[in-house]
Amino acid sequence: MNFMCVTRLKAASFAFLFLISMRLIGCSPSHSIRFPPAVEVSNLQERPSLRILAKGHNRRIGVGAINSILKYSDYSRKLIADEFDFLVSDYHMKWKWIHPHRDLWNFDISDDLVKFAQSHSQQVKGHALLWHRSLPDYVKSSPISWNEVREHVETLMIRYRSQLSANGDKTLFAWDVLNEAIGDVDENGKVALRETIFKRLLGANYVDRVFALARVTDPDALLIYNDFGMELPGPKSEFALAWLKELKLRKVPIDVIGFQMHIPLWKKGALEKFEANLKRYSDLGFQVTLSEIDVALFSSEKEFRSMSEEEVNQRLEQQKKVYAGLMRICLRNSKCIGLSPWGLNDSDSWIRRTFGKSYEAPLLFDERLRKKPAYWGLHEALESP
Ligand code: XIL
Repeated sequence: MNFMCVTRLKAASFAFLFLISMRLIGCSPSHSIRFPPAVEVSNLQERPSLRILAKGHNRRIGVGAINSILKYSDYSRKLIADEFDFLVSDYHMKWKWIHPHRDLWNFDISDDLVKFAQSHSQQVKGHALLWHRSLPDYVKSSPISWNEVREHVETLMIRYRSQLSANGDKTLFAWDVLNEAIGDVDENGKVALRETIFKRLLGANYVDRVFALARVTDPDALLIYNDFGMELPGPKSEFALAWLKELKLRKVPIDVIGFQMHIPLWKKGALEKFEANLKRYSDLGFQVTLSEIDVALFSSEKEFRSMSEEEVNQRLEQQKKVYAGLMRICLRNSKCIGLSPWGLNDSDSWIRRTFGKSYEAPLLFDERLRKKPAYWGLHEALESP
């Protein structure tokens, strides 16, 4: 055995002994979240994809928070094309990116997304025409006029309204016309419309005007009001229900209510409460969608670090039950058009990026693009509702 081999053998045995001793004294390397091995490739082909199963139920399964599609790996793009029938841009259809200056538009990345969808017989949900975040400085700092809002909305919708996918479907089938216009619950438990720049400068009926504009601009698109924190009964949901009922009486053309679903690891009772709450909106005549699902596993990093691998796997199984429960709720409600997680895999998750929760695993696929129990939760719910 030559010198190099002996050295390597010594190094390997030292490393092995080091790890064993570390383990024995209880300071094992901080565990990352481990998932059961991916489903054997052999039976991958036998299992229908989520989009195929969903189509059988006349539902859509999309994936949100898609960034520049051309920068995804080939395998990521294969998963996106195989498993989902609609895509939602994370950031590149938002005002700050797509219309950064009055006379400048950045369509490249959203055009790439639309082309990708078209070539895979998928659709795109536009997100979002009006949102009080991700606004460019010229909108935030100078009085924005209705004409400027109208130009923004019309330019975006007109660009894509005639686009068709390979299967003949209208590619831009829906738009989040207005996002998060309801304010947060205040210290007295009160809720009101959010004091956004649009409300301040255009008046509270900006809501009526922007949906009316969207309807005439693209009469064939589903028009969505999208928001968070109204999934379960409570002050925000009560306010939203009353406000949307009033808008419907005023014949404001809102077709769909988007429940973002940025939720913790719901227990069984919460799913029942959500289903009953969702029905209150669909009973008003709205279609509904679960638009930005992520199901957080942990309440803190401390909790994550305190858990054994077995306990983490139990959380992943609970997460599977939540995703399966949400799918079955959507299948039972005839007004539910479908659902979409907010991100393809855990490394992409908004929860990780925005809240620095690098330990979180809220989505369907793990960092190595393996299907997690959550994916199989949707799959099983679609195979046996
Ligand atoms: C987030 C994106 O994921 C981020 O990349 C971006 O910087 C900010 O917006 N509700 C929404 C989404 O409607 O548009 C937000 O997405 C997450 C909360």
